[in-house]
Amino acid sequence: MMNRLKAIRLLMKHKNLKNYLEIGVFNGHIFFRIKSIFKIAVDPDFTFDKLRILGKIILNPLNIFNKYFKKTSDHFFSNDAASLLNNNKIDISLIDGMHEYDFSTRDVENVLEYLSKEGVIIMHDCNPLTKEAACSFEQWKQRDFEGTWNGDVWKTILYLQCTRQDVQVFVLDCDHGLGFVTKTNEPSKLLPYTKEQIQALTYEDFDKNRAEFINLKSPDYFYDYFKIKQ
Ligand SMILES: C[S@@+](CC[C@H](N)C(=O)[O-])C[C@H]1O[C@@H](n2cnc3c(N)ncnc32)[C@H](O)[C@@H]1O
Repeated sequence: MMNRLKAIRLLMKHKNLKNYLEIGVFNGHIFFRIKSIFKIAVDPDFTFDKLRILGKIILNPLNIFNKYFKKTSDHFFSNDAASLLNNNKIDISLIDGMHEYDFSTRDVENVLEYLSKEGVIIMHDCNPLTKEAACSFEQWKQRDFEGTWNGDVWKTILYLQCTRQDVQVFVLDCDHGLGFVTKTNEPSKLLPYTKEQIQALTYEDFDKNRAEFINLKSPDYFYDYFKIKQ
């Protein structure tokens, strides 16, 4: 079954993508498994210590080169990204930090600034299946962080489809909705909503228009789009 780790590994292998950035890393479940000498981890609240890093270096020696930024993605982009990435573009990025529209939109727009021409952005949590999973961070906090929380990252996918002719966007129907964002030379056709209209949309609106709002595709579409043999 397709998931974020499999997608990252396939893209790195078949598309020669190397430099990796993960926003929202948590315990490094995905991050430490990626094989690259240029990997950047950004999270204000990593849940691993030096001992776990050491163990992960033994399992995957390339982890010795990892760069860790214990801060929000906004701080990373305002303070560190330019010096680190201007001459070393990002080829593949997993965006999985704060799952709220404004935050995930800033994250994807910031990563696009530093993305190589053939680079790929993967956004986690784009397809919430219930209203509860699509709630705000504050509501999730009020229920003691219980249950799945995808937030409204789906609005960022819709926003990109309404504002960015220079990118192509789709979401695979697996792993909480895996959003893919790539650059394109042929201008994409835009959907007609403004940023504010998108902000005002409810989960019910999303549920009625799911396929269009996030350009939802079956997991196998990944192989067609990236021209990778199954
Ligand atoms: C769902 S977890 C990430 C899981 C990880 N990417 C994986 O695939 O296993 C979300 C992480 O985002 C981090 N986070 C929250 N707000 C953030 C922000 N503004 N910038 C970067 N990371 C953030 C949290 O600390 C948390 O560790």
